[in-house]
Amino acid sequence: MGRAKKVVLAYSGGVDTSVCIPYLKHEWGVEEVITLAADLGQGDELEPIREKALKSGASESLVADVKDSFVKDYAFGAIQANALYENRYPLGTALARPLIAKILVETAEKYGADAIAHGCTGKGNDQVRFDVSCAALNPHLKILAPAREWGMSREETIAYGEKFGIPAPVKKSSPYSIDKNLLGRSIEAGVLEDPAAEPPEEIYQMTKAIAYTPNDPEYIEIGFNRGIPTTINGIAKNPVELIEQLNQVVGNHGIGRIDMIENRLVGIKSREIYESPAMLVLIQAHRDLESLTLTADVSHYKRGIEETYTQIVYNGLWYSPLKSALDAFIQKTQERVSGTVRVKLFKGNASIVGRWSDNSLYSPDLATYGAEDQFDHKAAEGFIYVWGLPTRIWAQQAGN
Ligand code: ARG
Repeated sequence: MGRAKKVVLAYSGGVDTSVCIPYLKHEWGVEEVITLAADLGQGDELEPIREKALKSGASESLVADVKDSFVKDYAFGAIQANALYENRYPLGTALARPLIAKILVETAEKYGADAIAHGCTGKGNDQVRFDVSCAALNPHLKILAPAREWGMSREETIAYGEKFGIPAPVKKSSPYSIDKNLLGRSIEAGVLEDPAAEPPEEIYQMTKAIAYTPNDPEYIEIGFNRGIPTTINGIAKNPVELIEQLNQVVGNHGIGRIDMIENRLVGIKSREIYESPAMLVLIQAHRDLESLTLTADVSHYKRGIEETYTQIVYNGLWYSPLKSALDAFIQKTQERVSGTVRVKLFKGNASIVGRWSDNSLYSPDLATYGAEDQFDHKAAEGFIYVWGLPTRIWAQQAGN
């Protein structure tokens, strides 16, 4: 008896997920492996990947284009939450995992599989995101993670694959470990493992080096409707188009690089480089529009909600009761977050230089220092007396 009869495997076409196919069958007694590759806008050609799975022994090889859902159902929520893990990382990898888990579970149910599988090792966050998401969506499915158990080195993995007709990577494989999709690239390993070493320019693909960016600033206007970006320079864009165009325009000015030491859920500190031009500018612009359209108390309270939201998404709890409760709060706050933000892109910097909204709470009559001033200055005195009363009493008691 094997560990499972029929398995749906998350497939990328790389060595590890390819070796998972014969490994599941020959070592763990799985009878049938169905592979599923997700198109998240990573730019890989998917037909060769589909064929590679069949050559590696999959009984069925599926490709799912989920780009639209990725942006609408995962990225947009993160923008509304201004989600930046440890204040910097816009969760490009973390947001993709619950979506992949969802289509794995749907496929398993459709094909009558009794398990799902993935090629993650035991050191990362992604295994947590896959396992917890799958369990939340269908707690009856088994989860198999061969690479967490097989204990093979890179060379041993390649040699094992070759026994089953899986070709070794043709070119000397890159020293970096890269995860990419529409929302950006996550790059680690190689020389990046030394936190003191500057990242070599060769790792970047979505963002230009400052030496090659345009010598004139470029202005873009991003329009939001209820916290969701919908237009660029007044032109309506579908979600995928909007992200693609912004990645291009923003990356062209060298904006969107992050170099950080990050705390993984499994306790390890890792050095990660990210390129995420569109997401970074969208979050910056969205937060700015909130400053114009949310009341002070909602805005301040939301910061705490955003922090919790970001941590639970990073930590794999996308499909959790806390996440849906936070979503409800965030959605409520977005009802009036509509308007336009003007962004200046220049030499690695995105600056918000203007914002306007039909729902603006900014009152020129109150803010002005000019003659039109409507604010009742005399009212301030009583307010300050009451506001400062506890402090005044404390100071008296302390003998100040
Ligand atoms: N540290 C990031 C995260 O956990 C990205 C990990 C992606 N993998 C990679 N090969 N860089 O979301």
